[in-house]
Amino acid sequence: MGFNNWNSTGCGPQFNETMVKGIADLFVGKGLKAAGYQYVNLDDCWALPQRDAAGDLVPDPVRFPGGIKALADYVHSKGLKFGIYSSAGDHTCDVKGFPGALGHEQQDANLWASWGVDYLKYDNCNNRGIDARTRYRAMGDALKATGRPILYSICEWGGNAPWTWAPDLGNSWRTTGDIGDGWASMIGIARADRGLAPYAKPGAWNDPDMLEVGNGGMTDTEYRTHFSLWAEMAAPLMIGTDLRTASQATLDILTNTDIIAVDQDPLGIQGRVVSDSGGLVVMSKPLADGSRAVTLTNESSADATLTTTTEALGIGGASSYTVKDLWSKAVGTSTGTLGAPVPRHGTVMLRVTPGTPVVPPAGLDHVSDLPLVAANNGWGPAERDRSNGEAAGGDGRTLTIRGVRYAKGLGAHASGDVSLALGGACRTLTTDVGVDDETFGRGSVVFQIFRDGVKVADSGLLTGRDPAKRLTADLTGATTLRLVVTDGGDGNASDHADWAGPRIACGNGPSAGPHQLSDLAWSSAVNGWGPVEKDTSNGEQAAGDGHPVTIRGTRYAKGLGTHPAGEIVYYLGGACRTLTTDAGVDDETGGGGSVTFQIWTDGVKAADSGRLTGSGPAAHLSADVTGAVELRLVVTDGGDGNASDHADWAAPVLTC
Ligand code: GLA
Repeated sequence: MGFNNWNSTGCGPQFNETMVKGIADLFVGKGLKAAGYQYVNLDDCWALPQRDAAGDLVPDPVRFPGGIKALADYVHSKGLKFGIYSSAGDHTCDVKGFPGALGHEQQDANLWASWGVDYLKYDNCNNRGIDARTRYRAMGDALKATGRPILYSICEWGGNAPWTWAPDLGNSWRTTGDIGDGWASMIGIARADRGLAPYAKPGAWNDPDMLEVGNGGMTDTEYRTHFSLWAEMAAPLMIGTDLRTASQATLDILTNTDIIAVDQDPLGIQGRVVSDSGGLVVMSKPLADGSRAVTLTNESSADATLTTTTEALGIGGASSYTVKDLWSKAVGTSTGTLGAPVPRHGTVMLRVTPGTPVVPPAGLDHVSDLPLVAANNGWGPAERDRSNGEAAGGDGRTLTIRGVRYAKGLGAHASGDVSLALGGACRTLTTDVGVDDETFGRGSVVFQIFRDGVKVADSGLLTGRDPAKRLTADLTGATTLRLVVTDGGDGNASDHADWAGPRIACGNGPSAGPHQLSDLAWSSAVNGWGPVEKDTSNGEQAAGDGHPVTIRGTRYAKGLGTHPAGEIVYYLGGACRTLTTDAGVDDETGGGGSVTFQIWTDGVKAADSGRLTGSGPAAHLSADVTGAVELRLVVTDGGDGNASDHADWAAPVLTC
């Protein structure tokens, strides 16, 4: 994966040092490096037409005033790799006629190795009719003899069936003539390349030529087809557009990490055609996790619906399948039939996995306790309940933003995203976001929340000095949730991005009618002393050590025994209307203690008892909870320390 200038510049003057450095900068700044792109490559026209007195190639001093070695050093300084171009002939392909490497193989290979070249594209022009195998073997041997690992990209155009011999000589081979920036060229090349699937394997790839995505000759729908098919065919992904002027739509296509994951899947199997009729083409690519990547391509000139089955894909037999649309990001299920309407020249790309996605359980769920459908991260894996330590799994610390610690959450690193399946069962997501304290003030990140591919929350730029920000998102009816972190524009160093305490509200709330709260399951309960007790007071230590709930001589059969600082959270799911309760300090304190009782709905205080003491009367509280997703019962110390603060919620009744 990388960049090559040819498709955007040809031999034009804009192909120069400034451009190539700018591309390297953008690889880092726009998340392309994080997405997997690593080679920054020069094509034809980098040299002068004449070799020097020693027979060495000479970089064009107008285009590359600093020389090629300095440029390679610059690219390497960004953590990227550098590639160059030549031809297995007397001259390269451009009409200006730059020197080719035929007969100079070792001298040129040595020069490139001395410059730090990591990749050679070796073309086929002006070859004097010498057998292709002989010419390409000579350069392969010369590259090996340099002792430097140099990826060898054979550009023979498919004339001598290179797929039958190039796997032994190089890492990839062009299967066709040059791509052009138009639908007919692109799809013609795809048709030729897909028939060669059996010849590709890890380390030896069919190359249907570089990407035209973003160059303006196709619609974005057609460019998505281009990118989908190249990934499906496990092709090299060489960006061929000038990223300095690329639109957001172009960048979104090139950085679709789900599709890049298909291209780069470790099995390294090229997708094959499953069906092809009337321009409606279905392809299937086996993936390492047992899934299949499926392309439904409408090559015809009218909109159409394409269908296939999991049996045809070679993964029949399961009772259900998870189906992720890799462009819209929607996740659904299937029992075996797959299909979608596809616009003319469009491609729907799916990842089909045997088994049903696990939908979050009803209630207020911590996101970090839920199964993730996919997780990509700029550095290290996404961490559960700790920050991102950049390297191995589990190397982070307690999530901490400006000194506030969070027990639950996800530790991400830009650029990264995690996806969850919601199955239409959830309502809201609430989370704090920010850069973790472990960066000591460095790093800058943007946090975004997407539902079914649509952005519904955006933090704006947050640096390592900004306080945490609270984001909420309405997820009603959504099938997928995606939490995305991107670099704030200064490279992704120190971008330790915390999703701090994210909770998602899913499923239905309590059934209709009145409920004693102590008969319902809470989502969470914390207490200053001992556990929260159901239907007894709080005895401060072990579970069950309380007494019947009693305030100023009145006994209550039902209630909750708490102790400041305490908080009980219930999931209402919008199903309830009122909460009424008595509240007071239990008689077992012998008159001691002082407590304030509060009722909160969705972060808003709905009732407050004021300060109540062990000698004063009970308060009667009533709160309107209509439509609330979350109910919180809070007890705080009355201002004199929390000794003897046995706080009774006496007969709390929730009406739904
Ligand atoms: C040939 C190659 C192209 C490009 C040009 C450069 O046409 O196939 O990819 O490298 O030469 O002149």
